[in-house]
Amino acid sequence: MNGPLHPWRDALEDLGLMGLVPPPLAFLPPAPEPQPSVAVAAKPVVPTTGPKAPLQFVPPTDPAGCPPPETLASASNLVDLERCLQGCLACPLGAGRLRFVFGEGSATARLMFIGEGPGRDEDLQGRPFVGKAGELLDKMIGALGLQRADVYIANVVKCRPPDNRTPTPQEAQRCLGYLRRQIELIRPGVIVTLGATPLRELLGVETGITRIRGQWQRLEMLEGIPVMPTFHPAYVLRQYTQEVRRAVWSDLQAAKAWIDTH
Ligand code: URA
Repeated sequence: MNGPLHPWRDALEDLGLMGLVPPPLAFLPPAPEPQPSVAVAAKPVVPTTGPKAPLQFVPPTDPAGCPPPETLASASNLVDLERCLQGCLACPLGAGRLRFVFGEGSATARLMFIGEGPGRDEDLQGRPFVGKAGELLDKMIGALGLQRADVYIANVVKCRPPDNRTPTPQEAQRCLGYLRRQIELIRPGVIVTLGATPLRELLGVETGITRIRGQWQRLEMLEGIPVMPTFHPAYVLRQYTQEVRRAVWSDLQAAKAWIDTH
């Protein structure tokens, strides 16, 4: 297999899925050239390569450090929202961060991924999912025929928990208003939650991820958003079995099929 199908083949090989799925990209037209149209201009994409240029840091004046709900609500786009959250010290994670990891991707993404919280690489770069788990997530997105810039990627908490521990429910709840405002602004067609934490904190679903993955849930926001729970890419890397990879692939395909048909 040559040319444009190479990355697709490599991604499927890395996912251990080679031979399990037909080659979808073979039937897809080449990606359209970007047009200098209003529609393109109206779809701002946060740059997804390289570390972000440092945003202006606004030192918090209030130890709670985060904007009041009315400020959050008045942020009418992701750029304004990110700017008004930069100095947040609403929970103890803020004091330990190097970079605030707001999230990135298409501001009008139909597919949104939500992970747990930044790790070391993300804290250094200020971008979500840029370490090993992020590499795998990129491959999964690529295997769906999409690019990272087509989707939106965010986390439950925006600051790195020490030693990459799971954020406490208190930390997660302090940050949740930010995530919910992101969702309101993006209005995704489908959310894929990665691992147990986003499912628990955002939907209140406590069922173990092994039992619940692959089963549609619904986030009661806007008109109701379908949520597909799947394993966290870090878990897939630890449990690199055919069974786990097949499960994730099937969950992602279900999410993609939904946005393709609605
Ligand atoms: N794991 C997450 O949950 N989020 C990241 O951004 C990186 C790793």
